[in-house]
Amino acid sequence: MNNKDLLNIAREYGSPIYVYDAETIINQYNRLSTAFHQVASLRLNYAVKALSNVNILKLMNQLGAGLDTVSIQEVKLGLLAGFTAERIIYTPNGVSLKEIEEVAALGAQINIDNLSILEQFGSKYPDIPVCIRINPHVMAGGNTNISVGHIDSKFGISIHQIPHILRIVENTGMNINGIHMHTGSDILDIDVFLYASEILFETAKNFKNLEFIDFGSGFKVPYKPGDIETNIEELGEKLSVRFNEFCKEYGRDLTLAFEPGKFLVSEAGHFLANVNVVKQTTSTVFAQVDSGFNHLIRPMLYGSQHQIENISNPDGKERFYSVVGYICETDTFANNRRINEIREGDILCFRNAGAYCFTMASNYNSRYRPAEILWLDQQAHLIRKRETIDDILRNQTDINIAIEKEKVT
Ligand SMILES: Cc1ncc(COP(=O)(O)O)c(C=O)c1O
Repeated sequence: MNNKDLLNIAREYGSPIYVYDAETIINQYNRLSTAFHQVASLRLNYAVKALSNVNILKLMNQLGAGLDTVSIQEVKLGLLAGFTAERIIYTPNGVSLKEIEEVAALGAQINIDNLSILEQFGSKYPDIPVCIRINPHVMAGGNTNISVGHIDSKFGISIHQIPHILRIVENTGMNINGIHMHTGSDILDIDVFLYASEILFETAKNFKNLEFIDFGSGFKVPYKPGDIETNIEELGEKLSVRFNEFCKEYGRDLTLAFEPGKFLVSEAGHFLANVNVVKQTTSTVFAQVDSGFNHLIRPMLYGSQHQIENISNPDGKERFYSVVGYICETDTFANNRRINEIREGDILCFRNAGAYCFTMASNYNSRYRPAEILWLDQQAHLIRKRETIDDILRNQTDINIAIEKEKVT
């Protein structure tokens, strides 16, 4: 898809709007599976949290992916999209035993990341196989908010607590069929990945009935031409060799699992917003769009730098702009960026808007969440309608409020 297609979509469906290119998703899926072609059994569990529109999940299902989920709602969405329960892994953090029991009843693979729940679940359901999320204590990830495998992180069970895990497994008689880690997003250095993998292999030796080892995700995608990215091909080559060696040592062929979110959908997404106002102050030129952190919070949440292009004036002279939204708090998408001249009414395109963009959108300021389009077979398909005032009011109840006059000063 090209900028002309995007402009046509903005004209036809209005702004702000998210557009996802199916071909990019398919190419990324194929690229990742090709990189690990040396492994006999590979499972790519798409991380639903990245982009959870049910049509995206259906596309993943057709590609042969499994699903990585973190809530019972994501599990239910996956089932609705046609996934069988055994192709869904559920990796919650800090949820109740009750929710885990409900997900187990739906048949998804349970992944537990704390000793308390491990003991409670194992005691009640020793026959349900469980995966364990290990915290390998590796500092990885592009930003502290998305580095989740270090020693201070709330995620996973510490490798120093393996004796505790083994005691629980022995006492309850539960069956551990998988070992998992996820060290963080935006890993730049594959040696970090390989180092953490060695810790996982060491841990795996403690469990005799494993069926899979899940290496999580965290692949860094490029945000602009020439940007650094995880070298998937090199990682595939090196990790496959080590994995195959480990399987020999372990005495059985295991499945190598990943749970990519960003890698599969980030670059497929384009967010289109209309420029409402160009505001020249004494020091800055602001381009104010019909959006804000209610639709795209990543730049404010963890400083992600989405490329922004003026697709309706691509030949305009480049100038410096700060691109901001219409929210009643600071909502700066970009500071002093070089962008082709912006005029009121232009359409700006934010790149890498596939992962953690729509799924983090809210109705803050009582604004509608944007529509979503899937570009498939050279055609735009509306996969989520823009909200209306009815969506804002849905689930609010209207009670009779009659305050006595004397109480009003
Ligand atoms: C447990 C787990 N798996 C997978 C992912 C997906 O990571 P990414 O989008 O970097 O591929 C995340 C992201 O937060 C995660 O927490």
